[in-house]
Amino acid sequence: MTIDTDFDTDLSGQVALVTGTTSGLGKRFARVLAAKGAKVAITGRRAERLEELKKELEEDGATVAAIALDVTDEQSIADCVKKAEAQLGPINILVNNAGVSTEGFAVDIPIEDFDIVMNTNVRGVFLMAREVARGMIERGEGGQIVNVASIAATEPLPALTAYCTSKAAVAMMTRQLAREWARHGVNVNAICPGFIVTELNQHFLESPAGQKHIAHYPKRRVGEERDLDGALLLLASPKSRFITGTLLVVDDGQSL
Ligand code: NAI
Repeated sequence: MTIDTDFDTDLSGQVALVTGTTSGLGKRFARVLAAKGAKVAITGRRAERLEELKKELEEDGATVAAIALDVTDEQSIADCVKKAEAQLGPINILVNNAGVSTEGFAVDIPIEDFDIVMNTNVRGVFLMAREVARGMIERGEGGQIVNVASIAATEPLPALTAYCTSKAAVAMMTRQLAREWARHGVNVNAICPGFIVTELNQHFLESPAGQKHIAHYPKRRVGEERDLDGALLLLASPKSRFITGTLLVVDDGQSL
């Protein structure tokens, strides 16, 4: 495996599905899980990018299924989970990563933009979680669900009302589902990352406003994709059987 992580978690025998692996953190999560021995379903809307990633991971010896997924479409979710399990086996790990944002003041943003954020970040996470959890519960073997929330779940950010609201919902959903599925051994946790440079925010972080924002952080920097490896592996590993309903803030102190 060419991927370089400092963590030695062993995920051999596990089957993981990661949503939104065509860019950014999702791509990194898929690479890390595959490097640790999990079979990985990589999913998203951009077929060409999925095929490229599949090729890369297979060249490194991983077992991978590339499957189309739009998390705003309930049927697409059902089809994706079915195909992933047919190709790789029952899913033990779900990483609910796909997410979008919209920028603008609350009085200005078109309600359609607000709806897209909610449909993707909240409804999509809910539909994915319960589709996968149904199988986990039925098989009686439990599993690990890792939602990608954000420090935006608790920190108001300028001109990001829809995004922050959606991530607060993911945080509560994480605790709620963790409570509901605890007796089935389905652990539900969330990573709440601080700012990490990806396609989602590169434009903002490179702007004067973004630079000003970064200057307020205690370490005056933003993260790299690899900075979430440890949190991901901790929460994805079946060895973390005692951790559920946790919102793990990984933000370099940005929210302090
Ligand atoms: P990104 O824009 O590179 O990745 C988001 C992924 O979600 C993309 O691959 C996109 O195609 C996919 N996606 C969006 N709508 C989808 C849909 N309807 N169906 C399937 N896939 C869809 O951005 P990034 O930064 O990698 O974001 C990943 C997650 O991390 C998001 O949930 C984001 O909110 C969260 N996050 C990111 C932070 C950062 O600083 N980059 C900080 C905190 C949270």
